[in-house]
Amino acid sequence: MRTKIIGTGSYAPDRVVTNNHLAEIVETSDEWIRTRTGIGQRHISDGPGTTAMAAEAARRAMDNAGVSPEDIDIIIVGTTTADHCFPSAACEVQGAIGAVHAVAYDISAACSGFIFSLNTADALMKTGAYRTGLVIGADNLSKIVDWTDRSTCVLFGDGAGAAVVKAYSETDDRSEGVMCMNMGSDGQKASVLECQSRTMENFLTKGQPKPGYITMEGQEVFKFAVKKVPECILKVLSDSGTDISEIRYFVLHQANYRICESISRRLKVSMDRIPMNIEEYGNTSGATIPVLLDELNRAGKLNPGDKLIMAGFGAGLTWGAVLIQW
Ligand code: COA
Repeated sequence: MRTKIIGTGSYAPDRVVTNNHLAEIVETSDEWIRTRTGIGQRHISDGPGTTAMAAEAARRAMDNAGVSPEDIDIIIVGTTTADHCFPSAACEVQGAIGAVHAVAYDISAACSGFIFSLNTADALMKTGAYRTGLVIGADNLSKIVDWTDRSTCVLFGDGAGAAVVKAYSETDDRSEGVMCMNMGSDGQKASVLECQSRTMENFLTKGQPKPGYITMEGQEVFKFAVKKVPECILKVLSDSGTDISEIRYFVLHQANYRICESISRRLKVSMDRIPMNIEEYGNTSGATIPVLLDELNRAGKLNPGDKLIMAGFGAGLTWGAVLIQW
C-alpha cells in the first residue's frame, strides 16, 4: 500500500495582529521581531477554537480532494491545544464534519504534530485497515501564550491545515505518495519548551489550579532545530536512496526564518526550494506545514512526480521528516 495526499485545505482566523500591535502590549518592536524571526504578523482567533479551525481546514481539504465526509475512515489531528481535555479534537472534528464512518484521535507532538500524524496514518494505511483519511495539524496557541512575555508571545499564531490521504494498492501507480519517513524524540530535553498543565492540583494536594503558559529556552530550541532537522532530512534521503537534488521543495516547520536559512546552508540547498510563509502567520505549531503545503498546492506549484520533504520539530523534544512524491 502507498499513502497519497489527494487534497489539502487550510484555515486562519480573520483577525490579524501585527508586530506593531504587539509593541503596544510588550516592550518589543517590528524591527526586532522581523530581524530575529522573519515574522510580520500573525492570525489570532477571537472566536473559533482548535476544533472549528481544524474542521474548516478539513472541509476545504475534502472539497479539494473531491471526497465526502462519509468516505473518511480515519481522522488524526496533531495538536497540543485541543479545546477540551476530552473528547479529542479529532472526535470533535468528526462530529462537526459528519465523518460518521471514521475512527478519530489526536497525536500530541507539538509542532511536529502534522508529521507524526501523517506518518502514523501512512503506517496504518499500509496495513490495509484504512483507505481514506484526514490528517490535520491545528493549534490555538494564543490561549496558552503568556501575553506579558515578549520572548515568546511575538512568535506564535493560530491556524489549521489538513490533508486528505488515500491508500493505493501495490498495483496502482506506486511512484506516488509517502516514500520514506523518520521521527525522533528526546524527553531529556522536555523542559526547554513546555506548557504546564492547568489542572495539576486536586483535593489531596490542596493547591489551586494555576494557569499554564508556554515557557521556552529560545536559544536551546534554535540549536536543537538547526541540528536535528537537517539530520532527519538526510536520513530520509539516505534511507530512500534519494539524491538531495531530486527534491523540489523542502516544506519546513515555520518557527523562525533564520532556522530555515541555517538548514538551507547546512543542506546546501537554496532558499528558493524552501518556501516560507512565516511572515504572514508566525508559528502556528502543528499547522505550519499543512498550511504551507496547501498554499503550494493551491498556487499550482506542485506537479505530479515532484518530490517533497516535509520536516518539523517541536516540544517534547520531537522532530520528524517525510519524503513524498506528489
Ligand atoms: N523584543 C525585543 N527584545 C527581545 C524580545 C522581543 N520580543 N525577546 C527577547 N528580547 C531580548 C532579550 O531580552 C535579550 O535582551 P538582552 O540581550 O538585553 O538580555 C535579547 O533580545 C536577545 O535575546 P535572545 O533570546 O538571545 O534572542 P535570540 O536571538 O536568541 O532570539 C528567539 C530569540 C526566540 C527569536 C530565538 O532564540 C528563536 O527563534 N529560538 C527558537 C524558538 C522556536 O523555534 N520555538 C518554537 C519551536 S517549535
